[in-house]
Amino acid sequence: MKILAIETSCDDTCAAVLKNDQLLSNVISSQTDLHAKWGGVVPDIAKRAHNERIEPVIKTSLKRAHLKMEDIDVIAVTLGPGLAIALGIGVNKAKEMAIKYNKKLIGVNHVEGHILVNLIKNKEGKPDRKIEFPALAMTVSGGHTKLVLVEKIGKYKVIGETLDDAAGEALDKAAKMMGLGYPGGPILERLAEKGDKNYLKLPRPLSNQKNFDYSFSGLKTSFYYQIKDWPKEKIGQNLANLSATFQDAVFDSLLIKFRKAIEFYKPKTLLVSGGVLANLELRKRLRKLAKETKTPIFMPVKKQFNTDNAAMIGIAAYYKALRKEFVKDKEKLDRNPRLGL
Ligand code: KG4
Ligand code: ZN
Repeated sequence: MKILAIETSCDDTCAAVLKNDQLLSNVISSQTDLHAKWGGVVPDIAKRAHNERIEPVIKTSLKRAHLKMEDIDVIAVTLGPGLAIALGIGVNKAKEMAIKYNKKLIGVNHVEGHILVNLIKNKEGKPDRKIEFPALAMTVSGGHTKLVLVEKIGKYKVIGETLDDAAGEALDKAAKMMGLGYPGGPILERLAEKGDKNYLKLPRPLSNQKNFDYSFSGLKTSFYYQIKDWPKEKIGQNLANLSATFQDAVFDSLLIKFRKAIEFYKPKTLLVSGGVLANLELRKRLRKLAKETKTPIFMPVKKQFNTDNAAMIGIAAYYKALRKEFVKDKEKLDRNPRLGL
């Protein structure tokens, strides 16, 4: 089965081609530069960029896979959650192509894509990861922070999520408060390496509660009030310390709940993913936690699998195709910005 997957839920225009669960090509046209000066994603700019880029990105993905449209069996596309006008461009393109070329069509949940990204294989069939169920997945990005119990592929239960900001969003906002660029996550990571993580005292919100939910807005507010009257020079001199302190508070919050959920649900495998997983310190701490709880952990094997991409939509579509979950009425397929798992 050959799958062409399309992802346009936020600010990356993406297309990928898979042969079953093996990735043949993965094209990502990032709009980060366009949005950077505004300090976040601007919907109108994203819409225009997706519109301009979607066709060349799809063409390139087919070319790199050495395939033509005739060779494709299934077209897959992200339905949500995400930015409505951005999602619409991918969904319309997928519908139009599925009708024109008479292909099967599959709608995919973006979060399911993030979870299953850990199952993608290369052309040699590697890595051949055996996931045992139940698995516990944590996806941490700029748009979501979720803990999901995976009873089997296709059967998910959200056991915890952020009540306000996503973890990546919190990192981005803290970076903005310090006058740093966007996205803030990678900038804080670099600065934090040389900083003192105990420089300020920051809360670990909800850490004493029994549930598995997260909250990052209190952390952000506490950070804001502690530095708001500082002169610019003082912030400038302490960028490493502030980055280390804030990043540590975010990662602590993530790890505290993840550990609690592992102890409660006793999963057989851990699956972690999302943009923030590009962070090496977070990866190190997750590996340590996995070791301590004696649970195998899988993380994205390529940097481009952490952030948004269409390969993850393709792998989720592959398993949906095995379950014959094709769209019945292609004309009626619609985006769903608030799609739940
Ligand atoms: O998954 P993603 O590309 O998009 C969403 O679906 O949101 O995640 C983007 C988020 C941003 O908040 C960004 O700051 C964060 O991932 N991020 C990082 C790193 N690289 C990206 N956070 C911490 N350390 C990094 N190295
Ligand atoms: Zn995402």
